[in-house]
Amino acid sequence: MDLQDRSILLAVTGGVAAYKAAELCRLLVKAGAQVQVVLTESASRFVGAATFQALSGKPVFTDLWDARVPNTMAHIELARAADLIVVAPATAHILARAAQGLADDLLSTLLLAAGKPVLFAPAMNREMWLHPATQRNLAILRADGARICGPASGEQACGEVGEGRLVEPDDLLQDIIAALTPNSLEGRTVLVTAGPTFEPIDPVRGLTNRSSGKMGYAVARAAREAGAHVLLVSGPTALAAPFGVERTVVETAQQMADAVMAQIAQAQVFIATAAVADWRPAQVLAQKQKKSPDAPPPSIALQTNPDILAAVAALPQPPYCVGFAAESENLIAHAAAKRARKNVPLLVGNLGPETFGQDDNRLELFDASGHHPLGSGRKIELARKLIGEVARRLAASSNLIQSPPRT
Ligand code: CTP
Repeated sequence: MDLQDRSILLAVTGGVAAYKAAELCRLLVKAGAQVQVVLTESASRFVGAATFQALSGKPVFTDLWDARVPNTMAHIELARAADLIVVAPATAHILARAAQGLADDLLSTLLLAAGKPVLFAPAMNREMWLHPATQRNLAILRADGARICGPASGEQACGEVGEGRLVEPDDLLQDIIAALTPNSLEGRTVLVTAGPTFEPIDPVRGLTNRSSGKMGYAVARAAREAGAHVLLVSGPTALAAPFGVERTVVETAQQMADAVMAQIAQAQVFIATAAVADWRPAQVLAQKQKKSPDAPPPSIALQTNPDILAAVAALPQPPYCVGFAAESENLIAHAAAKRARKNVPLLVGNLGPETFGQDDNRLELFDASGHHPLGSGRKIELARKLIGEVARRLAASSNLIQSPPRT
């Protein structure tokens, strides 16, 4: 589970979006976290303590002077136990009080006493959000080391449309996991390709493959969790973009190649998980091909698509390139040969295609020294392990470049 053995203090302040904090609480518990809820006085006007108590399985705290804490230091006791404090929704008022270091209720006092990482998920009317005072307070909180998640844009409870909505609970959960993950790729840009490509034959038909995109999306998400700026170039999939990832959706291999080449100069790491179609119909028919009872089935002339990974690896100053290989037999020989042919330092092999569309996978790493198992399990867990490997290798190679010559 993503948050097994983690303690989250979920602080809810008084905004309409407080009802979404109940869903966040459920998701945190489902992800394995121990959740302690603190409500401000005004939050409890929107959603009652009983809801959060039922969802978290723990009594809720609202009062600085809570008699259940024997030493009457609820602010210290609650902060002490937490790995991360999440304020969701965070009103303009709590942002202002936290920025100024006021300590006049349980939440503001424990934020001051915490000494723990804090994530604020602001939610408010867009004018309040854009007000220079709020923006000033945010800048102070950021400078103090707080993480700010959102707000999102869209329709607001006040009837206006704009920035100020609470980030959706699923996305907030991703950011909470990221806040608890070491920033091994901070300052790096990672470009990931994912999914299948679709090569049209005519306006309704095309050639594609069974890639679901799940592995690539998991890799993009894991890179983002590790603090990277992530660019995802995706073929057609049904998946939602991971939170905080910049996604470009394409259809064909040529479009994928163009999108990658347009962005690759920004990237220090390129991870090619896409199942790119090797060939495309040489001609795309402008109208739907009709069948006639007497005519034989048409044959389709194919032409070769660009090899995106090989092209990136062949750039004069290539990023650190990672390839993927799904083989149906003889994984070790095929994957090792593929790594050499594409001239990439690292290739990830899996015995597909039975893992296409599944949530689990079993992966093997191929590098200059041979092959090593990465393990098996959920794609997101494997993706996190892979990102750990990439960060380690990248750090080792930059140390190599930066270290002074031995005398
Ligand atoms: N790849 C790519 N562009 C292509 C084909 C593949 O970028 N036109 C990348 C894939 O994203 C993957 C790696 O190359 O990281 C290997 O893909 P794969 O389809 O297994 O390799 P191919 O070169 O197509 O070899 P084959 O289909 O013969 O196994």
